[in-house]
Amino acid sequence: MAKMWAGRTDGVTDRIADDFNSSIAFDSRMFRQDITGSMAHAAMLGKQGIITPAEAETLIEGLAGILADLESGALAIDPSCEDIHMFVEQVLTERLGDVGKKLHTARSRNDQVALDMRMYLRDETDAIMQKVRDLLEAILGQAKENRAVTVPGYTHLQRAQPITFAHHLLAYAMMLLRDLDRFSDCKKRTNVSPIGSCALAGTTYGTDRRFEAAELGFADICRNSIDGVSDRDFCVEFLGACAILMMHLSRFSEELILWSSWEFKFVELSDAYTTGSSIMPQKKNPDMAELIRGKTGRVYGDLMALLTTLKGLPLAYNKDMQEDKESVFDALDTVKMCLDVMTPMIGTMKTLPQNMKAAAQKGFINATDLADYLVKKGMPFRAAYKIAGQLVSYCIKEGTVLEELPLATYQSYSDLFGEDVYGDIDLDVCVKKRISEGGTSPDSVDAQIRYVEEVLNHGEHIH
Ligand code: ARG
Repeated sequence: MAKMWAGRTDGVTDRIADDFNSSIAFDSRMFRQDITGSMAHAAMLGKQGIITPAEAETLIEGLAGILADLESGALAIDPSCEDIHMFVEQVLTERLGDVGKKLHTARSRNDQVALDMRMYLRDETDAIMQKVRDLLEAILGQAKENRAVTVPGYTHLQRAQPITFAHHLLAYAMMLLRDLDRFSDCKKRTNVSPIGSCALAGTTYGTDRRFEAAELGFADICRNSIDGVSDRDFCVEFLGACAILMMHLSRFSEELILWSSWEFKFVELSDAYTTGSSIMPQKKNPDMAELIRGKTGRVYGDLMALLTTLKGLPLAYNKDMQEDKESVFDALDTVKMCLDVMTPMIGTMKTLPQNMKAAAQKGFINATDLADYLVKKGMPFRAAYKIAGQLVSYCIKEGTVLEELPLATYQSYSDLFGEDVYGDIDLDVCVKKRISEGGTSPDSVDAQIRYVEEVLNHGEHIH
């Protein structure tokens, strides 16, 4: 069949070229945005007298009918159409006759597709943000339950200092708050209407871009029509926010995988989010967490793909830009899927406080507190640090721990040591003493929980 754009050419193309050129397989998911956008366009054309009010009414009703039929399944997408824009216009013209052909007045697919993408991403950004909030709630639930559970804190994956498990979890909450902030910030630049930019240069018709933008809930309009049709920064920013979010989910997944190993056994993931092995009967594998970690690479790829597509493009629209969709859709589908799995996996995760505590008791993670004890008694920190180090090395040699060394041994290293040293190096005490803002004591952790709740309940996170 000849194309709707037949004219300059006869519109007859090779089937392989058609398949190559077509985007309907992936852009039909924007049918709601495309139709809603067209309804606002028809309303604007009618209001401005570019078409008659009666024609506008007919177009709007026709579009509403197509939307309803697509929603109900009465109308199927025709895969032989070039893209969703052509499909809707074709059905409209089939149903309404010549009036249907007036819809595309003072518009181009170039501003139309940019409009659809912005509307689609606005909605998807909201959906992702809601899922991030759900994950934050799951983390808060675990943090509250494990508020005073002592666990080793690590640097270089070596036991470093005792912390509370809640404190560790809340580090992820802070990352996710920043993710929310990034999505909401990028939404500000997404929520700007390109429609009315037309092919690239604007139009001779007396359009009202602001009316059309307001109808569609946009906060502003693109101020330069060339930029309006060639800007995909909002897609790149969105992908950037997705990539950073995935990096966070991936780090979290990595820890879940470590923590559920026999070597750590700090947590047990629910059977619902693990799998068995086809050969080894004893296995319980954290496949979901591994897949989240794995899928992070693919979202990074989506970001790189779009950046690379855009880097050499002259202004304004180029067909290369059709490639924005698969990257953006793949990333948002992946992010949503990962969040959908992560949230209940965290919510149902069982923590094993005894094992956490036992791990904290090995590895001399109270050595800093031992040095601090001597500082409190008047010794300069460097000297205290050295003695604490010598005592650790003595313990390792003797196969014992700081808590079990007799006082006489302590005193052979410094006469500043007294009975009270044992209280100071008790792990729970070490944790409770770290009362600095943002620190690991249960009180500091409570303040962090309150902060996260406050941001979740009262909106924007500023940092
Ligand atoms: N399917 C196209 C895309 O996704 C729509 C815009 C086509 N515009 C054009 N001048 N060929 O980018």
